Amino acid sequence: MIYLIYFLLLLNILILAAYNKKKLKKYFYKSEIIEKDIIDLHPIFKLRKISKNLKGPTRKSIVRNFCISAGNNITGMTSNYESWIISVLSTISKNIFEFGTCSGKTSYLMALNSDKDSKIYTITLKPQDIDNYKKKIGDSDIAQKNIINESIYDKFLFTDEPEEKKIKVIFMDSLLFNEKEFHNEVDLIFIDGGHTFSVVKNDSEKAFKMVKSKGVILWHDYNLGKKSSKDVVKYLNLISKDKKIFKVKNTSFCFYQES
Ligand SMILES: C[S@@+](CC[C@H](N)C(=O)[O-])C[C@H]1O[C@@H](n2cnc3c(N)ncnc32)[C@H](O)[C@@H]1O
Repeated sequence: MIYLIYFLLLLNILILAAYNKKKLKKYFYKSEIIEKDIIDLHPIFKLRKISKNLKGPTRKSIVRNFCISAGNNITGMTSNYESWIISVLSTISKNIFEFGTCSGKTSYLMALNSDKDSKIYTITLKPQDIDNYKKKIGDSDIAQKNIINESIYDKFLFTDEPEEKKIKVIFMDSLLFNEKEFHNEVDLIFIDGGHTFSVVKNDSEKAFKMVKSKGVILWHDYNLGKKSSKDVVKYLNLISKDKKIFKVKNTSFCFYQES
């Protein structure tokens, strides 16, 4: 009888833990990076006071967007709030660079919301090349597996759409990418390629050289306690000791703004 009580108690704890996974994670994993509201990144995110208990967007932060239902099984997507942030930043960016294209959701949003003469570059692995893509020493196994699982597209959500002409897809391993022609040229950089330590480090070091004065670097997937984000968290925690990197509240984004 006593064993049954212990068993039920344990079962209860496990069920409660599963239901409150997010809350528990917040308790166990504390961000080493200071959190800021998105308004601290740019005044364009400032909300309009409508009434005592209601705030809403200004005309400047109303953007073009689309949704794809979960049933379509598209991998590697940003949340609605994150997509909005990127879309708004795109409205004030001329030169944009994305590490990691996947379905092209974010590059499409960047193209939909930026000026007609803006340019979006996005780098990604070709599905055909993925067999030769080897894990580097010290890299997370899950992140490596995700690189393989997410490198499945050679046509994108923007393919054959008018915005396609603003987007240049670079099919290449970012570890081999020579970023020199982009030095001090890019207004907005989104780092969302391979989530292994070696790739995040490579993409970030290149991004720091590419970003222009007042330009912004955004990293996706600073997810505390999530196994597939382990290397992203490790790298960002490490460099945030020397660089002014902040986490955006209610997102998995971190940002850096060049002075
Ligand atoms: C998480 S998905 C990107 C999602 C996309 N940014 C979005 O918001 O829709 C990761 C992408 O990074 C690419 N990738 C991973 N490792 C890479 C590498 N070493 N070089 C270039 N692209 C890489 C994958 O091919 C995949 O397209």
